[in-house]
Amino acid sequence: MATKANWNYPTSVRFGAGRIDELPDALKATSIKKPLLVTDAGLVNLPVTRNTVKLLKDAGVDVGVFADVKPNPISANVNAGVEVLRKGGYDGVIAFGGGSGLDVGKAIAFMAGQTRTMWDFEDIGDWWTRADPNGILPIIAVPTTAGTGSEVGRAGVITDETTHTKKVIFHPLMQPKIVIVDPELTVGMPLFITVGTGFDALAHCLEAYCAPGYHPMADGIAVEGVRLVLENLPKVIADPNDIEARGHMMSAAAMGATAFQKGLGAIHALSHPVGALYDTHHGMTNAVFMPYVLVVNRDVIEAKIARLAAYCGMPPNFDAFLNAVLALRQKLGVPHVLADFKVDAEQRDLIGDMAIVDPTAGGNPTELTKARALEIFDRAMEGRL
Ligand SMILES: NC(=O)c1ccc[n+]([C@@H]2O[C@H](COP(=O)([O-])OP(=O)(O)OC[C@H]3O[C@@H](n4cnc5c(N)ncnc54)[C@H](O)[C@@H]3O)[C@@H](O)[C@H]2O)c1
Ligand SMILES: [Fe+2]
Repeated sequence: MATKANWNYPTSVRFGAGRIDELPDALKATSIKKPLLVTDAGLVNLPVTRNTVKLLKDAGVDVGVFADVKPNPISANVNAGVEVLRKGGYDGVIAFGGGSGLDVGKAIAFMAGQTRTMWDFEDIGDWWTRADPNGILPIIAVPTTAGTGSEVGRAGVITDETTHTKKVIFHPLMQPKIVIVDPELTVGMPLFITVGTGFDALAHCLEAYCAPGYHPMADGIAVEGVRLVLENLPKVIADPNDIEARGHMMSAAAMGATAFQKGLGAIHALSHPVGALYDTHHGMTNAVFMPYVLVVNRDVIEAKIARLAAYCGMPPNFDAFLNAVLALRQKLGVPHVLADFKVDAEQRDLIGDMAIVDPTAGGNPTELTKARALEIFDRAMEGRL
């Protein structure tokens, strides 16, 4: 893909194949002299990470690496990273990875100079104003998956391991100063992660678009994000080396996270407790829930979805869009029922309770009552649309 572009919205984004080479320059531009590169325990041993660390060392950058991060990261990962950061005298963070590495990297930079515990900064009301902005280090984000959009977001999702709940830590300064979006970094993703993260991007765009409230900017970004995923995710699966399609998927991921400032909804509200209790992959869990949530919300979103279908080149009706989602899921091997995912009904009641208090529940276009949450869960268990 020859396209290179620089965007300053929603933050400074350097888009294009091969642009990882600009990482040393991005550090200079943000005045980071001694960065801590934060990534997850799997990625740290892969060439994509090793090459990046080598690139920095060759450029004379005094870089440290912290990789004690698990998928669906927990607060212990952040705490350990903050300790390494403080002891090592690092002055900035390179958040490198999928959502897990990015979120922990952002949280470590955020917590660097705070005195309160991280849970005091949960995304509730104006809790973020409790933070000392002078204690937050600059962040450069480098995504290696195309899904969460965390690279352009102002929050991190961290699991509270004591209560098994996913919590959102928010502060405007968690927004990375510079993002390097290089589609070549995503080529090595396992198929399952490519599909799962692609559906996460789709879920962000779709839920943001369906969320109630007046936010035409978010709506506009979301509909183009949906189109990009529907067109490009099958291309990436057909040819994992299709850099152009990979680039469009990374754009869609960034667009999803930009759009979901408007809100998310029941897909995420159910996916979060399932992910926290069963450690399932976030995006893939969203993919399972997506059609059931569309069906349960149908009455209130029918006209909107018809417009979205028309924009995506389908017959302008709800069923055309629903069928396109179902066909994409089937083609890409997404499980149709939660049971395929080793989720059982044992924690059904708890999942219902957790879904309705999840921070994303408020964005659902119909009120996410416990009865409605359980209806979605039951349908997803039984495969009943
Ligand atoms: N901050 C946000 O706004 C936001 C939004 C959605 C999801 N999330 C969170 O993000 C996390 C999920 O992130 P994710 O879906 O990107 O997955 P992930 O970061 O957990 O990565 C999944 C797996 O893929 C591997 N991987 C990543 N990139 C790779 C590459 N290029 N080549 C080979 N392997 C690679 C990782 O090592 C890991 O084992 C969840 O914790 C979720 O809650 C955050
Ligand atoms: Fe998500």
